[in-house]
Amino acid sequence: MSETVVTATHLSRFYESGGGLFSKPQTVRALSEASFSIEAGKTLAVVGESGCGKSTLARLVTMIEEPTSGTLNIGGQEVTPDKWASLRDSVQIVFQDPYGSLNLRQRIGQILEEPLKINRPEMSAKERREKASEMMRLVGMRPEHYDRYPHMFSGGQRQRIAVARALMLEPKLLVLDEPVSALDLSIQSQILNLLLDLQERMHLAYLFISHDLSVVRHVADDVVVMYLGRPVETGPKEEVFSAPRHPYTKALLSATPKADPRNRSTRIKLEGELPSPMAIPEGCPFAPRCWKTQDRCRAERPELTGEPHPAACFFPEN
Ligand SMILES: Nc1ncnc2c1ncn2[C@@H]1O[C@H](COP(=O)(O)OP(=O)(O)OP(=O)(O)O)[C@@H](O)[C@H]1O
Ligand SMILES: [Mg+2]
Repeated sequence: MSETVVTATHLSRFYESGGGLFSKPQTVRALSEASFSIEAGKTLAVVGESGCGKSTLARLVTMIEEPTSGTLNIGGQEVTPDKWASLRDSVQIVFQDPYGSLNLRQRIGQILEEPLKINRPEMSAKERREKASEMMRLVGMRPEHYDRYPHMFSGGQRQRIAVARALMLEPKLLVLDEPVSALDLSIQSQILNLLLDLQERMHLAYLFISHDLSVVRHVADDVVVMYLGRPVETGPKEEVFSAPRHPYTKALLSATPKADPRNRSTRIKLEGELPSPMAIPEGCPFAPRCWKTQDRCRAERPELTGEPHPAACFFPEN
């Protein structure tokens, strides 16, 4: 039986930026109208260029920030500020840079036990230690690492610690914001395999953010492709990768090395700059860079719709 862990409906987040004595603040449309759901044990990957709103989405889903509009439902409950405290345990986040997110003055044992100290006051010191030791074992660290400090570890090991800490409160959903982007290629696959192993063991839902399509290919069940704060294509990984419908997805895929060289398609080079999220074009936001653009694309914004999976394009492939 499938269990929906998170549902986002038309989630948007705008920021006011700049503005001074002589200028009005401008609205940054960091995220517009993101809708999706993730089931227990499944991974939804969010892909797109820098600045397309991936981390903004991560902050909304982890309840670090409130959406400007739209709703979030976690474990069957609609998220409202009065529920933050009770729902926060069920969503945890792992960032790209474990060095920035771990307290360097704490030993590994302390780092792992801290969430329990704060959120599980009924647990004894012995129980906390047991739980931390068990988690260390699950992420592939040795018992003697308990008393060491983060700086004594490599980047990959530190990311194992960050993952272990995120799992201490037994969340249902783990948000992974570029979790392997800072790691060497050889270490990346170790961490990805660890994440897949933990997902199966704990039946975790993952919101996996990455700009790297070869990573996404490895881990995703479903994919959302984002452009300028908007989902432009979403569907099962196999479909999106083998038969992309949106020209932007096609361009992204054409720029990634293929596993099978016989499948090599010609690389599509996108013309023009990525527009600023303070000046998102009217109509289709991708129109200024798209090779299929017609008048309609500049005048009207396409809905995310169609078969076999939705794409926001008036002239999709297939
Ligand atoms: N607090 C803020 N105030 C103003 N603008 C913001 C704020 N946070 C994010 N933005 C802007 O919103 C847009 C989306 O940012 P976001 O960090 O979500 O992108 P991203 O997809 O995670 O990028 P990257 O791949 O570089 O991490 C960017 O243009 C960013 O400058
Ligand atoms: Mg980001």
